[in-house]
Amino acid sequence: MDNVIVRAAVASDAPFLREMVREALRASPTFVSEVGLAEILRREEEYWRNWSREPDPALVATDAAGQQLGAVLLKLADRGRRIAIAVKSGARNRGVGRALMACAAQTARDLGAAYVCLYVDPCNAAAMALYEKAGFVRVGARGSAVEMRVELFVDATPSSDPARRPSA
Ligand SMILES: CC(C)(COP(=O)(O)OP(=O)(O)OC[C@H]1O[C@@H](n2cnc3c(N)ncnc32)[C@H](O)[C@@H]1OP(=O)(O)O)[C@@H](O)C(=O)NCCC(=O)NCCS
Repeated sequence: MDNVIVRAAVASDAPFLREMVREALRASPTFVSEVGLAEILRREEEYWRNWSREPDPALVATDAAGQQLGAVLLKLADRGRRIAIAVKSGARNRGVGRALMACAAQTARDLGAAYVCLYVDPCNAAAMALYEKAGFVRVGARGSAVEMRVELFVDATPSSDPARRPSA
């Protein structure tokens, strides 16, 4: 899609972000059945109650008229950021997801994250395609969900651990 604008989310985007996270959960039915809908709704309720006080960074994609098309949320996860992404059903397959992923990686880098990671239902062909094309590789699993990751920084400094130092 021409003229996709990606901007930082502001407080008034919270309902849209929440709707997009719901979309991402809807695309992960196995995760929902493994954890349980009631538990997921409880966690979501708590998360969004605290979001305006301690907002995780998030990005919103819009068209030139400012219409929201999709969003990505970047939660803190150890040394990286774990993302949740969704694009409105009427705006898919037009490059919005790709634009959000590129900006999410840059945002994570700016925040000093070592990697971006996510969990995806392996049956979610659209998401798998998007992530693989963005350079994500499988690093593990959580239940039936695949864990994928893209490293953002390669530590080029020689290791201080003698066991990891290259031999002369
Ligand atoms: C996954 C999702 C975010 C992709 O967003 P999108 O805007 O439709 O993706 P894009 O148009 O930017 O496509 C990105 C790439 O994925 C590919 N792709 C998109 N949908 C695809 C599909 N159904 N099957 C195969 N490839 C697909 C595109 O061809 C494109 O490749 P290209 O860069 O070579 O052109 C969107 O489908 C969505 O919101 N799905 C529901 C929520 C969801 O699944 N969230 C992720 C949960 S882990």
